Amino acid sequence: MTVGDHFEKVAAVYDSLRTTDEAPVRAIGQFLPDRPVTGLDVGCGTGRYSRLLRELLPDGSLLAASDVSAAMLAQLKAGQHGRAPGVAPLRAAAEQLPLRAASLDLVTAFNCVHHFDLARFLAAVARVLRPGGQLFIYTRTPQQNARTIWGRYFPGFTEHEQRLHSQAALLDAIRRTGGLTVAATHTFQHPRSSTAERLRAQAEGRHYSTFSLYPPQELGASIATFLARLPGPEVSWVDEHLLVVAGASRPGQAEPDGPASPASQPVKDHAPQIRAGRASQAPKRHPGGRAQITPLCAQGIAGQDRQQSAQIGGSRARSCRLFVTEREPSCPASPGT
Ligand SMILES: C[S@@+](CC[C@H](N)C(=O)[O-])C[C@H]1O[C@@H](n2cnc3c(N)ncnc32)[C@H](O)[C@@H]1O
Repeated sequence: MTVGDHFEKVAAVYDSLRTTDEAPVRAIGQFLPDRPVTGLDVGCGTGRYSRLLRELLPDGSLLAASDVSAAMLAQLKAGQHGRAPGVAPLRAAAEQLPLRAASLDLVTAFNCVHHFDLARFLAAVARVLRPGGQLFIYTRTPQQNARTIWGRYFPGFTEHEQRLHSQAALLDAIRRTGGLTVAATHTFQHPRSSTAERLRAQAEGRHYSTFSLYPPQELGASIATFLARLPGPEVSWVDEHLLVVAGASRPGQAEPDGPASPASQPVKDHAPQIRAGRASQAPKRHPGGRAQITPLCAQGIAGQDRQQSAQIGGSRARSCRLFVTEREPSCPASPGT
C-alpha cells in the first residue's frame, strides 16, 4: 500500500486513533512574537495540530494547512465547522509549496517530515520563509521510535520503519539548505498510559503508517505477538519526540549553532521505562527560549486560493492575499468580487 493509499484509508478514523500532544505547540508559541503572524502547517493531515497552533496565534494571524491527501484535508474541513479562528486548507506537496517567496513567518511540520523528500522540502521552506521566519519540525527519531511501546514489543516495528530521520541527519540537511540555519532542538517526553485493548485497536486501525508497510498476514500475527508480550492489560511508558527549530537567515547572518548554542547541546538520549499500570509522572516542560531566535517579521503575505483564504477570517482584503502564487498577480480590490 502506498503512503497516499494509507492516508486515504485512515483519514476518517485518524483523529480517534492518534494521541495529540499540546506541549510542542505551546513550545512553538514561546518562539513567536506577540503580533499577528502568517504561517503554514505542512503535512497537516486532519488538522489536529493546525487547530491547536491557530488557537495560540495572536488575533489577526493567518494560518494555512497543506497536505497532499484530499481525504485528510476533507477531515480538516469537516472539523472546522463553527470553529473560529479557522485555518485555510491547501492541497499541496511539501516539496512544492504554491506560495510566494518570502511570504511566511512560520512553517510547521508535525509527525510528517519522514514522508517528504527532505532536501526538496527544506528548499521549499527556505523559499517561502521571510528573513527571520522560522521552521518547526516535530518528529520522532529512529532511536526514539525504538523506545516506544511499539518499538519494544511489536515484532518488526523498527525494521519496517526505516523512513525516520535521526537528529544528526535533520540538522545536517538544514545546514546544507541555503537560507536556513539551525536555531534550536528540544526533546519532549510524554508519559503515556493505555490498555491492551486500545493498543490493539490502534494497530488494527493502522494508526501509524508503519503498519501499512506490513503484509496483512504478518500484521495480524504481529499484533497477536505484541499483545502477548505486553507486561499487563494496562501499560505505561514514555514517548519521546524531537522538535527542531530552523531560522530563515537574514542577509549576512552567521550560523547560530556554535558551541554554546542550544542547537549544539546534546539531546538527552536515555531510555525511559515501560511499566505495567498507569504513568505517574507529569510531563517535564522545557520551554523554548525566544531570545535564541531571531524575532519574526509581521508583514502581510500572499497566497493562492481566494475562496479558501476567505474562510480564515480577518478582512478579505488581507486574507485573500494569503495564497496567491508567484504567477497570480493580486487579489480582488473589493469584497465579494
Ligand atoms: C502522520 S500524518 C501527520 C498529520 C498531522 N501533521 C498530524 O500530526 O496529525 C502525515 C501526513 O503527511 C501527509 N503527506 C505525506 N507526504 C506528503 C507530501 N509529500 N506533501 C505533503 N503532505 C504529505 C500525509 O497525507 C499525512 O496527512
